[in-house]
Amino acid sequence: MDRKKHWDSVYSQKGETEVSWYEDEPRMSLDLITEVAQSSACRIIDIGGGASVLVDRLVDLGFEKIAVLDISETAMNKAKTRLGSLAARVDWIVADVTETAEIGVFDVWHDRAVFHFLIDATDRRKYVELASRSIPEGGSLIVATFADDGPRRCSDLDVVGYNAESLSSELGPGFTLVKETRATHTTPWGKRQAFFHGVFRRVKI
Ligand SMILES: C[S@@+](CC[C@H](N)C(=O)[O-])C[C@H]1O[C@@H](n2cnc3c(N)ncnc32)[C@H](O)[C@@H]1O
Repeated sequence: MDRKKHWDSVYSQKGETEVSWYEDEPRMSLDLITEVAQSSACRIIDIGGGASVLVDRLVDLGFEKIAVLDISETAMNKAKTRLGSLAARVDWIVADVTETAEIGVFDVWHDRAVFHFLIDATDRRKYVELASRSIPEGGSLIVATFADDGPRRCSDLDVVGYNAESLSSELGPGFTLVKETRATHTTPWGKRQAFFHGVFRRVKI
């Protein structure tokens, strides 16, 4: 499967508000990010940010170093167009998170609904290796995935659901769970989906 083609095609065929993961206000993500990012100097990256308005809110909040990484340039172009001149305040990285060598250093790594698409253990390992290289000790990794009793497929792809134990085990000893919460996402057509959110601190091993 060509992942890039898949995601570019999804975002070309559907409007920003027509995808199952659409949120008009990314409340949970913002709450978790602002709990750990206590200064505007915090470097924040949204992994698989797609066309989400999270980046708009982070810009509004005055964070000085914000990056969005996504495999789909089509998705990121939607966010860039929406932001207009403010898009210049963001680093836009078109890349597959499992195939990228370096992205810089970030105090906060946020991922909503990307990790659960990594059904191959090697891809998960590469994701964790990149996160480990990119987040300094004391930094935070915030991951929102489908819960273990959540959907089994999304966007015509298989997914893996998680709970605190299974996600901690995937991330390994370099990340300690500091907060966990479950939430229900309601799709634009009213379907309820169980999500797991974990906040992890990068620790020395
Ligand atoms: C379900 S969407 C979630 C988008 C966004 N985080 C949100 O909450 O609205 C998954 C996103 O991950 C991106 N993606 C999927 N696999 C990826 C990969 N291997 N590397 C980088 N981005 C990926 C897709 O292009 C898509 O934008």
